[in-house]
This record gives sequence, structure tokens and C-alpha cells, in this order.
Amino acid sequence: MKYKIAVIPGDGIGPEVIREGIKVLRATTEVVSGLDLEFVNFPYGGEHYLKTGELVPQEGLDRLAEMDAIYLGALGDPRVQTGILEQGVLLKLRFYFEQYINLRPIKLYPGVPCPLRDKRPEDIDFYVVRENTEDFYVGIGGRAKGHSHAQLEVLRSIYKAKFGLDIDVDRDEIAYQIGVVSRKGTERAIRYAFELARKKGKKRVTSVDKANVLTHVYGLWREVFEKVAKGYPEIETEFAFVDAITMWFIKNPEWYQVVVTPNMFGDIITDLGAMIQGGLGLAPGGNINPDGVSMFEPIHGSAPKHTGKNVANPIATILAGQMMLEHLGEVEAANKVEQTVVEVLKEGKVKTRDMGGRSSTSEVGDTIAMKLKGKQ
Ligand code: IPM
Ligand code: MN
Repeated sequence: MKYKIAVIPGDGIGPEVIREGIKVLRATTEVVSGLDLEFVNFPYGGEHYLKTGELVPQEGLDRLAEMDAIYLGALGDPRVQTGILEQGVLLKLRFYFEQYINLRPIKLYPGVPCPLRDKRPEDIDFYVVRENTEDFYVGIGGRAKGHSHAQLEVLRSIYKAKFGLDIDVDRDEIAYQIGVVSRKGTERAIRYAFELARKKGKKRVTSVDKANVLTHVYGLWREVFEKVAKGYPEIETEFAFVDAITMWFIKNPEWYQVVVTPNMFGDIITDLGAMIQGGLGLAPGGNINPDGVSMFEPIHGSAPKHTGKNVANPIATILAGQMMLEHLGEVEAANKVEQTVVEVLKEGKVKTRDMGGRSSTSEVGDTIAMKLKGKQ
């Protein structure tokens, strides 16, 4: 099969890690017969924004919609006010293409140093399914300060009646941001988690929330979870509060198989997950719309201080490429990438600084690509 892959190298170390990812993906096309990948570059990110004032124009979205998948490096440029590129590019794409799942495997590979004493690769091997288009990411909110007398009266009564708040809007300044979850959005994320458990032979799905405090949004989330779970009687289920799960991820990661979580908590616990799998340099993710255009990326950021030094670990990006191949149905190619990464990690000869080595970004990419090509 031939696939058209949109490539958005993005900012900071993004272009450096994406280059290695593409190297490895190209290598798979040499050893898997019939697999062909065409890469189409898109310039979005800080540099493009500063030059043109453009984030992702409609014309770009239309062209991206024609692609089979998007392969993204990283976004974030210290010259651009925080939030602009994140919202204008990354979140824009996640929302526009309705990539409602953020799939983040937490897997400790052999040969990777784990900060948890006594934990082995067989202890850390689970998936976080993060809902990716709702919750506190919907962007509804505002700030208020300095109103006319008439406005103040109205605001006071709204805050009191709607939110039960006694806010002195006259002197104080307030900000609010509203989380929204929908039954449909929750259901499709939770169903995806159960289907994933079935597909991967996992026996338990854990739902993460904070339903004891954020009773409205996560009350709905729990209700939907219980309903969906009924369709999967062979899978064990449980609820965990988000604060508690940060503790359990450290203490008993071996308990977890599939974890499903609303967007915001998913963001937080997957950085923790990345640490127990050996660091951000090893953690890939997929923004998935099972019926549309999906986007694969390392979960780390643009790491401005490492930019241009050829020191970043490209493995997270290479593994994001592996997830992309699997998503496209190219299982043989995906397996080859994972097996090769595992071999290189096990050998431990070529590794970047974050893993205690001295190799460069491109040495790691070259080694993996070369070894993969040996797997005829
Ligand atoms: C992530 C990132 C993004 C998020 C930011 C950059 C908007 O932290 O992919 O985890 O919060 O989702
Ligand atoms: Mn994050």
C-alpha cells in the first residue's frame, strides 16, 4: 500500500527527531514489500508564525485532510507567547480532525534505566487512553475586572445564582475556565479503551477521575463508564481518583493494563507515565480519530535548550512512527520498528545523553534504520 504522510517537524528539537523518525520509516519501506510512504512537508510552528502571522490556515487544513496520517515533531518556541502555538497548531489539529483519543503506551523496554527501584520491563506495560477533545481543553472561560455599576450588579447575581460564589467583582479580578464533557465524547473514549483492552488481551480497565470533587463533569463520566463496561463482562473494571493514581503508578505499575481518563488528567499522568518508562525521550503518543486523519507525535515538547545540538533522543518519535504504521494497518512494518528499537536498547551501545550515553540523535536514528534494513 502507498500512504501519504503529512510531516510537521515544528519547533525546537522537532525537526531533529522527525528527521530520524522518517529515516526509520523509509527503512521499513525497503524491507516490507509493497509498502510505500510519501512524505509531504508542512511548515507550521513558531518560525512560520513569526514570518507570516499564520498558524494553520484553512487551506492547510484542507490539504492535511487529504493525507493518510500526520507525523508531528514538537511545538513551542520561546519567542512566541506561551499558548499561541499550542492552541493554534497542536490543539487546533486535534480538535479540527476530531482526534478524540490520545493513546499513550507506557512500556518499559529492556535495557532502559527505570527510576523505580525493583521494577522490570514486565512490570510496566500498559496503555493510557486519554480523551482528547473535551474537558478543560475546550477553551471556554474568561477574565473580568473593572465593570460599570450596572454590569457589576448583573455579574454579582450571575456568580451568586449560577456558581454560588460571593465575589467582589468590583475590586477583585477573577478568571474562570469551564470543563465540558459530553455523553457522546465520553462514551467513544471509554468504548475505545475497552476495545483496546480486548484487542491487546488486557484484562482490566481503570477509569481515572476526580468525581468526589468535580461531581458534575466526572459524575457523568462515571455513569457512562459503568454503562459501557456492561458490554465487556470479561474485563475487570475499577475507578481511581487522579491523585491516588499518581501514587499507584509509582508503587504498583504492574497493576495497570488499560487506563482511561479525561483530557486534563490524562495530560498530567502521562508525563508521570513517561518517567516510569525511562523518560520523555522514550514516550510516543497517537492522536487518533478512528474514522479520520490521525496524528502521531512524541509526547515531549520542543526542548529549546537542546535545539540544534543533535542530542535529543529520537526514540519517542521513532516509536510514534511505529504507532502510525500500526494504525495504518501495516503491522509487519510496525513490528519491525519495535523489535529493532528493542534490540538497540538492549545492546545499549548507542544511546543519547538522557539515557546515560553519548550518542547523537542521528547516530541513534542511523543505527536503528541500518539494523532494520538488515531484517529482510
Ligand atoms: C501534550 C502537551 C499538550 C497538551 C500541550 C502542548 C498543549 O502537553 O501533548 O501532552 O496539554 O495536551
Ligand atoms: Mn502534556
